[in-house]
Amino acid sequence: MEGTDTEQLSVEDKRQQHERIGQRILAETRAFGKLILFGEHFVVYKVPALVGAVAAYTDCECERLPGPGLVVVDNRPAVPDYKVTKAEEADAALRLVFDHFGLDLSKEGFKVTFGGDLCCASGIGASAAQVVSLARALSQTLKRPMSENAINAAGYEGEKGYHGTPSGIDNTAATFGGILKFQRTEGEPIFERKAIAKPMLIVYASTGITSSTTSVVGDVRAKKESDPSWFEALLQKYVALVQKAELALNAGDIAEVGLLMNENHKLCQQLTVSCPELDRLVDAARLAGATGAKMSGTGRGGLMLALTPTPEIQDAVADALKAAGAPQVWKTSFA
Ligand code: MEV
Repeated sequence: MEGTDTEQLSVEDKRQQHERIGQRILAETRAFGKLILFGEHFVVYKVPALVGAVAAYTDCECERLPGPGLVVVDNRPAVPDYKVTKAEEADAALRLVFDHFGLDLSKEGFKVTFGGDLCCASGIGASAAQVVSLARALSQTLKRPMSENAINAAGYEGEKGYHGTPSGIDNTAATFGGILKFQRTEGEPIFERKAIAKPMLIVYASTGITSSTTSVVGDVRAKKESDPSWFEALLQKYVALVQKAELALNAGDIAEVGLLMNENHKLCQQLTVSCPELDRLVDAARLAGATGAKMSGTGRGGLMLALTPTPEIQDAVADALKAAGAPQVWKTSFA
């Protein structure tokens, strides 16, 4: 399966398209998918990461019910198994957002319908997009105008249902879009928008394996605790790498960004969060001409990401990924 043509539109194109066809209300509940360019897992430990939102989004329609309870209609496209595997976490996450709004579902009722064109898969930030779109929808239904920071904070609470200790990178990308430098801190996260000279063409592909962020993040933590100096050495290598990546991105040196992505993938392998299925797809993308390729997100399944310098190479990389066995491949851009 390949991403639809509309996935190739930029975030701004999408916004304008929505307004043209009069879907203003739902457009206002949209929350974007994301792909981590640099720093999955390391970001949990309060070092900077770079993330790009994809133009595909989740949206949410919310209505009050006459009685108490929560009815969820989930029309989001998804890779096989995703929704079944995540069902319990999704329920916990949605309820945490209602709690955050001070709503007691044993006393009042809501029906929420999720849609949009973001295909849910491990690594794309589908959980964050879902809880952020719910926060936007609740803000509208309750007629409580909220700042983007407040929406992001509500999304962060929801993300805790999907995994207990989120860094906040996914909900921040889902809320604000664009390419962001993000850093978790003891207090509020710090993030800044990165301006890029021209859209970066990308291909991303699923391994077809839905992984659990809770268990992979938990496993990394256990490894860190059992061998602190091993983890610290990897973390320091990563910090040096992300500093170079930020400079390369600022300078528009996409070739260097690609090389550094390859290095980041090696660190993910050493962290044991990559897997043979991801490594095979990453190798296939590089052989087909990708500027750089790495796993993206939780890992041990989920997604990989490739930067491609031209539309022709983007097509070639997508074909190579399909030939290497990726069940789903998407072509889009970071804008
Ligand atoms: C998941 O998209 C990214 C992780 O770094 C977890 C997190 O940052 O919360 C694996």
